[in-house]
Amino acid sequence: MAKVKSKWVCTECGYETAGYLGKCPECGAWGTLVEEVQFALKPQVKDEFINKEKPELLKDIHIGEEVRVSTNIAEFDRILGGGLVQGSLVLIAGDPGIGKSTILLQTSGELCKNNKKVLYVSAEESASQLKLRAQRLLVNSDNLYVYPQTLMENIKTQIEEIMPDVVVVDSIQAIYSQNVASSAGSVSQIRECTNLLMHIAKSKNITIIVIGHVTKDGNIAGPKVLEHMVDTVIYFEGDKYKSYRMLRAMKNRFGNTSEVGIFEMCTDGLKCVTNPNELFLNERSQVAVPGSAIVVTNEGSRPLLVEIQALVGTTPYPSPRRVANGVDTSRVLQILAVLEKRVGLNLSKQDVYVNVMGGIDVYEPSADLGIALAVATCARDVVVDPQTVIIGEIGLSGEIHPVNNIEKRLNEAVMTGFKKAIIPYANKVTDNRIEIVPVKRLIDAITACVSAQ
Ligand SMILES: Nc1ncnc2c1ncn2[C@@H]1O[C@H](COP(=O)(O)OP(=O)(O)OP(=O)(O)O)[C@@H](O)[C@H]1O
Ligand SMILES: [Mg+2]
Repeated sequence: MAKVKSKWVCTECGYETAGYLGKCPECGAWGTLVEEVQFALKPQVKDEFINKEKPELLKDIHIGEEVRVSTNIAEFDRILGGGLVQGSLVLIAGDPGIGKSTILLQTSGELCKNNKKVLYVSAEESASQLKLRAQRLLVNSDNLYVYPQTLMENIKTQIEEIMPDVVVVDSIQAIYSQNVASSAGSVSQIRECTNLLMHIAKSKNITIIVIGHVTKDGNIAGPKVLEHMVDTVIYFEGDKYKSYRMLRAMKNRFGNTSEVGIFEMCTDGLKCVTNPNELFLNERSQVAVPGSAIVVTNEGSRPLLVEIQALVGTTPYPSPRRVANGVDTSRVLQILAVLEKRVGLNLSKQDVYVNVMGGIDVYEPSADLGIALAVATCARDVVVDPQTVIIGEIGLSGEIHPVNNIEKRLNEAVMTGFKKAIIPYANKVTDNRIEIVPVKRLIDAITACVSAQ
């Protein structure tokens, strides 16, 4: 360990350079390059990486009986694609204080109830702090090991000694390995520790769940390669000022990534929300107001009813403001352009605000028609019938495109008590439980709303 080398690494993308640069040439971020001092180690092949196994024929590979392990938490299982896959590496990332440690301690408790041995590595909190949380969450188990430790090599030794079924590492930014000379949380440390954890998971068939911090932009702190290395990336989102939280899979090698899991934060931990529609619609005003429309988005395998609100008013500024919360701003701008060009709604002197109620994010294009109707009805000062749901994607020439899973969406609307649905013509179905209004063009949908007044 004679020569000390130093390199500069971008904390955003992992770009490496020999000297300091103000701007990262790879990702263009400013002031993100940090110095990492490295000791020139003699190159050596680590024992654990010497491959003693031989390639096998696919037909000869035997799958163990229990490939997936249920966490007993229905919403968590849903986003994992039916449970934790044995030997997988899962990354859960989220804002500070959102509840990452809470959900994983609860999950550990539930796994222990299924006779699984769990090792909870707490690199951020002491054993007594963890015990306090466990008491509050009513987690009490003989199979749950707690290990406050930050050195990766010690963690590895304990995993090999205890041989648990599941390991939780809280958090990847707080642990460090002796193989790398930079401090914990640095890009090289995160990469090295994840690499070691991945090797343990795959070679010993142990499921490892890792907690990750996020940067102020909401991305996982550390190199992008971290997300490539793990099998599943789950984001824990939610409005800090409200009690519900959402788990969303951004990558899953063993399941669908469009699922969301919805929880409510209570004193005794996170509780699954079985009927999210009540949660998102219960704050809705019972009196019909202009600029409100109910859309049915399809998040994974479950349709969700969400209220979209719009506010349109004359602007005091030279260029009007367009603000979108919970929906993509460029999508809203496109819908406004279609409303101006194809419907003749003049919005050039109007400020437009679009908001998805309940703090949920809607990424699906099937909400387009709902957004357009919320804006159009607010501009014309008419109301959308509060018993109507709106479904449809809008094309640039003002045509309404079909959406997937229309029966499921309509079924959810019926179950929640809606009486009428405006849907794309190409999706036309007959359902005697709900009045169906199929529309071909955006103007037809607006006419259907206005004529119903
Ligand atoms: N007594 C309590 N009653 C209700 N909710 C609580 C209580 N104590 C903590 N909480 C909730 O738990 C949250 C903290 O959860 P947790 O420590 O699991 O978050 P975290 O994501 O692990 O945070 P960090 O990034 O700091 O590790 C708090 O923000 C609060 O919402
Ligand atoms: Mg925590």
